[in-house]
Amino acid sequence: MQPLYLECTRCGERLPADRPQNICPKDGGVLFVRYDLASLKGKLRREDLSGRIASMWRYADVLPDVAPVTLGEGFTPMLASREYANAYIKDEGLNPTGSFKARGMSAAVTMARHYGLRKLAVPSAGNAGGALAAYAAAAGIEAHIFMPKDVPLANRMECDYYGARVTLVDGLIGDCARMVAERAKTEGWFDVSTLKEPFRVEGKKTMGYEVAEQLDWKLPQGIIYPTGGGVGMIGMWKAFDEMEVLGWIGSERPKMITVQAAGCAPIVKAWEAGQSASEMWAGAATFAAGLRVPKAYGDYLILDILKKSRGAAVAASDEEILAAMRHWASVEGVFAAPEGAASLVAYRKLRASGFFRAEDKVVLFNTGSAYKYLDMMEAQAKKTRREPPSARAIGGIIGPY
Ligand SMILES: Cc1ncc(COP(=O)(O)O)c(C=O)c1O
Ligand SMILES: [Zn+2]
Repeated sequence: MQPLYLECTRCGERLPADRPQNICPKDGGVLFVRYDLASLKGKLRREDLSGRIASMWRYADVLPDVAPVTLGEGFTPMLASREYANAYIKDEGLNPTGSFKARGMSAAVTMARHYGLRKLAVPSAGNAGGALAAYAAAAGIEAHIFMPKDVPLANRMECDYYGARVTLVDGLIGDCARMVAERAKTEGWFDVSTLKEPFRVEGKKTMGYEVAEQLDWKLPQGIIYPTGGGVGMIGMWKAFDEMEVLGWIGSERPKMITVQAAGCAPIVKAWEAGQSASEMWAGAATFAAGLRVPKAYGDYLILDILKKSRGAAVAASDEEILAAMRHWASVEGVFAAPEGAASLVAYRKLRASGFFRAEDKVVLFNTGSAYKYLDMMEAQAKKTRREPPSARAIGGIIGPY
């Protein structure tokens, strides 16, 4: 449906949705897209979804009423774990461009085309850049991508093949963001940075709708979400509120769990200290590239969701993550991105501590595919002095390992 307006999540300021907007001009707050959902209550029933297209656009009624730029994103499998009776793996690795970033970029590029924007720019840990590049290609729009120079090879390659202009930066995602912000005006770029473009949250919120629909409208007791910028968690929480307005669910909510890499865990640190915002994490280092976000722009929203949902924040070391990747691959048949495998590390810790019980239904988000990280995995395996996966597979040592 048509958005009514954009609303600042800090001060409540309302901005028109009929033109491109970034953040609240008053206080820099993240903007949420608001619709007249109450008018759909009773008219749009959850049963009406059956038989609809198997992509995130099956939820078109709660997304902007605009012709979508789509590559078939969303409606990914909800796999019952083979190992844990009540755990589920939401496999976002099957999205176009191999990560859940496809959802946000499908929505953002859809709106960019609708607004008549010609040039988009983004700082990216890797996958957001790849996704923007693909959707911009599909829409015939220019994409300008700024990534740390040590992003996975796949991210550089895909951006190049999709025809994006790529700048590799000797720094972290925050340095990339500064470059985009500095040059956007003179270059005529529209900045689609995480949480500085309101429709990426709209794309990501469809994960919340899917969790509910795929679990037969009974929300789980917990959702574990690998958190960098936190858009997915923020989007899902928004979706739950929207579904309550639609009358599709009640006031129940899952416990929302942030998992971060131990080498870059600003939200975990802030949560443990009882703070409502995070501090910049110095010396961020992890092979889970998407979790290398030293300060999330929407940290105040993430921490608020953790608090409201009585959730938790957990850190996973790179060694634990690599071992979890192998475990999931060999036990579940899921070749998960490092960020996604961190969810398994968190689940195990929360089961061991008694936070989750065996009978609690918990959804573990695998946010991407391991196929995008082969070079990082090999480097990480060398670092931990384990044989590389290829050597183990052929039963011998090859090359210089
Ligand atoms: C595979 C993967 N998982 C998780 C994240 C973190 O996502 P978010 O910024 O929505 O917290 C990223 C971000 O780049 C990613 O690529
Ligand atoms: Zn504001």
